[in-house]
Amino acid sequence: MTSERILVTSALPYANGPLHVGHAIGAYIPADVYVRYHRFKGNDVLFVCGSDEHGTPITVTAEKEGITPQKVVDKYHKAMEDAFDRLGISFDNFSRTTHTAHHRNSQMFFAKIRDNNFIYKKTVQRPYCTQCNRFLPDRFVKGVCPHCNAEDQRGDQCEVCGKQLEPHEMENAYCILCCGKPQQRETEHWFFRLSEFSDRLMEWIKENKHWPDNARNFSLSWISEGLEDRAITRDLNWGVPVPLDDAKGKVLYVWFDAPIGYISATQEWAKKTGKPDDWKKYWMNECKIVHFIGKDNIPFHTIIWPAMLMAHSGYNLPWQISSNEYLTLEGKKMSTSRGWVLWLHDILSDFDPDLLRYYLLSINPAKHDSDFSLKEFQHKINNELVAAFGNFINRNLSFIEKQESSVIPKIEEFDELDEQMLERIREAPKKVGKCIEEFRFLEALKELMGLAHFGNEYFQKKEPWKNKNSTTLYLCANLTRTLAIVSAPFLPYSAEKIWKILDLEGSVFDEQWNSAGELGIKEGHMIKRVELLFNKIEDDMIDEFKTRHINKVENVIEEKDYAEFLDFEKLGLKVGEIKDVRNHPNADKLYLLKIGLGEEGDRQVIAGIRAAYSRDDLIGRQVIVVSNLKPIELRGEVSYGMILAAEGEEGVILLKPDKAVPAGSKVG
Ligand code: 2FM
Ligand code: ZN
Repeated sequence: MTSERILVTSALPYANGPLHVGHAIGAYIPADVYVRYHRFKGNDVLFVCGSDEHGTPITVTAEKEGITPQKVVDKYHKAMEDAFDRLGISFDNFSRTTHTAHHRNSQMFFAKIRDNNFIYKKTVQRPYCTQCNRFLPDRFVKGVCPHCNAEDQRGDQCEVCGKQLEPHEMENAYCILCCGKPQQRETEHWFFRLSEFSDRLMEWIKENKHWPDNARNFSLSWISEGLEDRAITRDLNWGVPVPLDDAKGKVLYVWFDAPIGYISATQEWAKKTGKPDDWKKYWMNECKIVHFIGKDNIPFHTIIWPAMLMAHSGYNLPWQISSNEYLTLEGKKMSTSRGWVLWLHDILSDFDPDLLRYYLLSINPAKHDSDFSLKEFQHKINNELVAAFGNFINRNLSFIEKQESSVIPKIEEFDELDEQMLERIREAPKKVGKCIEEFRFLEALKELMGLAHFGNEYFQKKEPWKNKNSTTLYLCANLTRTLAIVSAPFLPYSAEKIWKILDLEGSVFDEQWNSAGELGIKEGHMIKRVELLFNKIEDDMIDEFKTRHINKVENVIEEKDYAEFLDFEKLGLKVGEIKDVRNHPNADKLYLLKIGLGEEGDRQVIAGIRAAYSRDDLIGRQVIVVSNLKPIELRGEVSYGMILAAEGEEGVILLKPDKAVPAGSKVG
C-alpha cells in the first residue's frame, strides 16, 4: 500500500485567554487522534497549528486588561502551548501569527490575489466612536444581528445564527468601550471579490461528498443566499499592515491572515527541520489537507479560505473539514466573561491527561452539542476506563505475574473461544482504524472499549484460576499488546505505560498500526512488574475540584437574566480624579466637584457629601463615576454624572480603587 501525504491543521486559537475543555475537544483532541493514527500507518502526516494573535479579540482583551496587545499574546501563547503539551497534543509545529515570516507571507498572499484582480479598494461608511476617537472594527461594536434579530451580538459573528457580520450592519449598535452610539464615517477599505467564486465553490462543495453534513449544508445554503464581496482590511493598529502605500494605519482582517497561518506554520516547520522547501510537498504537491475546527469557524474554512486559495492559485484546497459543535458545562453554556468555564490547566492539574482525553472523546460533540459534567466524568472513568480497560489489563497481567512468574506461557490447542479471541485481535486495527479514517472518533473509542469488554468476558469464561490454561494467558497478553497499540492515538500516555509493563522493544509509537493484529508477544517473553494503569476517581476528588474551580462561579447569572447584567456594563463606570471642590451656591449639602476623566477631559458632578467629607479630604482623591448619565440640573447647576458611595454607619463612604489607576479607566 502506498503511503499518503496528509496535512492536518487545528484552528489557530486566539491568544486572548487560556484554553478550556470546549476548545480541547473542539479542534485539538480529535485532530491529535487522527494524526497519531496516520503516523502509525506510516503515512507522511504533518500536524500544524499556532496561536492567532491578531484582530479585535486581542485588542479588546488588551483594552480590558490595560496591557499592550503584545503582552496579551505573549502571555496566552505560552499558556496555550503549555496546556496543549500537557494534554499530549502532538503538533509538529505550534507557531504564532505575529512572527515576521507570517506577516511577510500574508502580505505576499494579499499582493498576489490583488495582482490577480480579486481585490479592489472602495470608500465605505464605518462605525466611528466620537468619544473614543476611533473607528470601531468588529468586536468593538455590539448590537442586534440583522439576520436573526438576536440581541447583543458581537460585530464579527452572530453566536445565535452563526452568520458573519459587519459591525455597520448591526442595529442598535454601541461602542463596547464607552457604550456610546457610533456615527457612520467614511473610510477606505480593500475588498475581496468573494462574489465571483459562488459557482466554483458550489461545484467544489457538491463534489466533496465526504464532508460532514453540518459543514456541507451550512455552506451550500450560505452560497445559495448569494455571496457578497468582503472587506479584508480594518482600521486598527494591531495586525499585519496592508502592504500598500495608500493604506497607512490599516491592517489585514484577522480572518484574512489567520488561515494563511496554516501555510506559514508549515513553512516554519520546514525551516526548522533544515529542509526549507519541504512545505511545498503539503501545499503544492498531492496532499490531503484536513482542517479540524469548531462549528463557528465553518464558513471561513469552507467558503472564504477556499475562495482565497482559488484566487491565489497554486495551492491545494482543503480535502476535509472536521468540525465539532459546542460543549456545555453542567448543562449551561460556557461563558468566559461570566466565569462559567472549565479551564484546561485546572483540570489537568488534578487529573491525568488520558482521563480527560477519554472522557472528552466519549462525549465528543461531533453532531450535536454535548455536556461536560464532573459527575459523569467520574462515572465514565470509573465504570468504563478503570472497570473495563484498566481491569482487563491489570487482571490478566497480574495473573501472569503471580502464577507464571511473569513469563508468557506457551500456546496449546485453540478452542472455539480462543478462535474468537484470535479473530478479535486480527480485526482490531482494521475496525478501529476505519472509524478513525472516517472521522468517527466516538465509534472508534467504542470499538476499543468493545475489545476490552471482550477480554474481560473471555478471561471470566476461561476461569484460568480454576483450570490452568496457558493459551488463555498467552492470548490475553497478546490482546493487551493489541490494546496498547490501538489505544495509543486516544490514550497516548497509558499506551506507552502498557508497552513498558509488557517490556516490549522501543516505544509503542514505533510500531506499525497493522501489527496490532498480530500475536506479537511470544512464549517465554517476560513482562515487567505490573502497575495499576489508572486509579479510580473518588468522590472527594471531584468535590474538592468543584470547590476550587467550579463552585466559585455557581452563582452565575442565568441566560434569561443576562440582559440585566449587560445593563450593568452599560452604566459606563469610570475612575475619575477630583480636581476641585466648590460649595453649591444654592444648596447646603451639595458640592460641585470637578472630576478629571483622563483623555476625556474634566466634568462637573454634583454630590451630596458635604456633611461627610471636607474639601481637603476630596482634592486629589479617586472616585468611581457613572459617566454616561443624561446631565441633570440641580438648583441652577448641571451635574454630568454621579459618584458611587456606600452607606456606612457614619454616613456616606465614597468608593475608590484599591490602588491608583489612570483617570478615565473603565470599571467593570
Ligand atoms: O475562532 C478562533 O479562535 C479563530 N482564532 C480560529 C482561526 S482558525 C484559522 F483560520 F486560523
Ligand atoms: Zn466609544
